[in-house]
Amino acid sequence: MASLLVILFISTLFSFTSSSPIPIRSEYEISLLYEGWLVKHNKVYENRSEKEKRYEIFKDNLKYIDEHNTGNHTFTLALNVFADITVEEYRATYLGTLPPPQGSIENDDNDDKKVVPDSIDWRELGAVTPVMQQGGCFSCWAFTAVATVEAINQIVTGDLISLSKQQLVDCDHKSCSPYHIYKSLEYIKKNGGIDTEEDYPYKAKYIGCNATKAKNNAVTIDGYKWAPRNNENGLKAQVSKQPVGALVEGYGRDFQLYGKGIFTKYCGKKQDHAVTIIGYGTDGNTDYWLIKNSWGDFWGEAGYMRLERNIQDKAGKCGIAEWPVYPVKNKHISI
Ligand SMILES: *[C@@H]1O[C@H](CO)[C@@H](O)[C@H](O)[C@H]1NC(C)=O
Ligand SMILES: *[C@@H]1O[C@H](CO)[C@@H](O)[C@H](O)[C@H]1NC(C)=O
Ligand SMILES: *[C@@H]1O[C@H](CO)[C@@H](O)[C@H](O)[C@H]1NC(C)=O
Repeated sequence: MASLLVILFISTLFSFTSSSPIPIRSEYEISLLYEGWLVKHNKVYENRSEKEKRYEIFKDNLKYIDEHNTGNHTFTLALNVFADITVEEYRATYLGTLPPPQGSIENDDNDDKKVVPDSIDWRELGAVTPVMQQGGCFSCWAFTAVATVEAINQIVTGDLISLSKQQLVDCDHKSCSPYHIYKSLEYIKKNGGIDTEEDYPYKAKYIGCNATKAKNNAVTIDGYKWAPRNNENGLKAQVSKQPVGALVEGYGRDFQLYGKGIFTKYCGKKQDHAVTIIGYGTDGNTDYWLIKNSWGDFWGEAGYMRLERNIQDKAGKCGIAEWPVYPVKNKHISI
């Protein structure tokens, strides 16, 4: 109860900070914000010195957030799940997927002239399962592969079934290290399907393949394809048909501390993170991609992000349009 009051009090403090001058915060106010954040995120540190060290990082992130939020931007930063880590720790712990090899890529580029809806949100159409937290495992590729398969399965069969990320970590890549979305889709095809999340739940670490569970093929696919590359219109046409897996660069501090709105700040094209594009739209004058992430509900817009769409660079914001890939599932009756 007391902690709830602290949170309420802190939310009130924080809501006054959304407009101009950079707030001047007393040490007392910052320590209250910190305590509230610890409760909200269920954080318990091993010892006092760790708690103090994390407080200093939290304070530095808060300063960065306050400065950004004072400016006139299309998005705000927040004391999200990553507020107690440095940008270096964030990079080292949560980023690290590889772009696919060049040369083996074929895609249909004939989609980009088609008329498609101006906006779509596959959550509203029932094709998206709740956001989860990948934890200390570089498994964004597994979350993305699974999210695209869950979606196409719902679109084709009408059933939304949460599928196993752990099976991909354990039986396909056999590791928590960075990997490829398309390789996982290839595995699901070759394996004859994939097990459910319920039967083969996510553990955020490599355990070793359970071959019995890996034979429980709850959902099948017929293959995978590359969506139009470096072509945001073609990508939009594909996303209007189904959610698509993509790679982005999530390297910066703004990405780390993203709160809400359309992310328009500079980011590079050294893709190090896999996400699922589950829609697109326009807010004011800014077009965006709607992406599902795997960093839990307490990052971004309840686990989602809106990323600027239709920029000058053909590779898209953070390189999102460079490696889009999606599973294929035909409408046939499985035996
Ligand atoms: C406090 O905890 C941190 C990590 O949680 C650890 O690295 C450090 O050694 C601990 N310090 C003491 C004095 O136990
Ligand atoms: C904020 O930015 C928008 C878009 O760039 C602009 O139209 C608006 O005038 C700006 N507002 C202020 C207060 O500078
Ligand atoms: C593998 O899964 C089966 C069936 O769910 C279970 O009975 C078995 O204990 C599991 N094996 C290991 C090594 O965890």
